Amino acid sequence: MTELPVTREFGPRELRSALGRYATGVTVITACAPGGRRIGVTANSFTSVSLEPPLVSWCPAKRAPSLPDLQRATHFAVNVLAADQHHLSGQFATAAPDKFAGVAVQEGLGGVPLIEGALVRFECRTVRWVDAGDHLICLGEVERFDTGDGEPLVFHAGAYHVAARHPEF
Ligand SMILES: Cc1cc2nc3c(=O)[nH]c(=O)nc-3n(C[C@H](O)[C@H](O)[C@H](O)COP(=O)(O)O)c2cc1C
Repeated sequence: MTELPVTREFGPRELRSALGRYATGVTVITACAPGGRRIGVTANSFTSVSLEPPLVSWCPAKRAPSLPDLQRATHFAVNVLAADQHHLSGQFATAAPDKFAGVAVQEGLGGVPLIEGALVRFECRTVRWVDAGDHLICLGEVERFDTGDGEPLVFHAGAYHVAARHPEF
């Protein structure tokens, strides 16, 4: 069967805006490059994938300056930000000589920095990289996690929000 050509009536800007209607949490993906350089990247593309085996994914942009170091690291951590950590979202989304300045961390598996005060910290072993357009899909196996109390930071339509319980449910 011949496929009809798709005439897209949207560009990346419109698509990004529409995708932004899907509310997400906010994470900082951290890792430690073989030379010891600490990496931290704000990401809302984090997704749970499988319970058995325990797999999660996130999608780094191919043009992200930290990508080569991320790909050389054996492990990464997903730090799920609490509502009062919104400043960390901006800090890890902005290039700087030391993104970790003023950030309290503990050392996890593979030397990965774990951000104190995060709601959950999933420590993962990188198991696969998948090519996906202008991004990559990074698949990790969860080896350990710890959870804390607090409210999640929510990202929706390009702005930060706090979650409120639905009044009817
Ligand atoms: C709320 C939010 C979510 C983001 N999600 C992603 C993401 O899922 N993947 C990605 O590659 N960049 C994402 N970014 C952008 C990166 O955090 C940003 O480009 C960062 O500078 C990349 O780190 P690097 O410069 O150290 O490579 C997001 C930024 C914000 C503010």
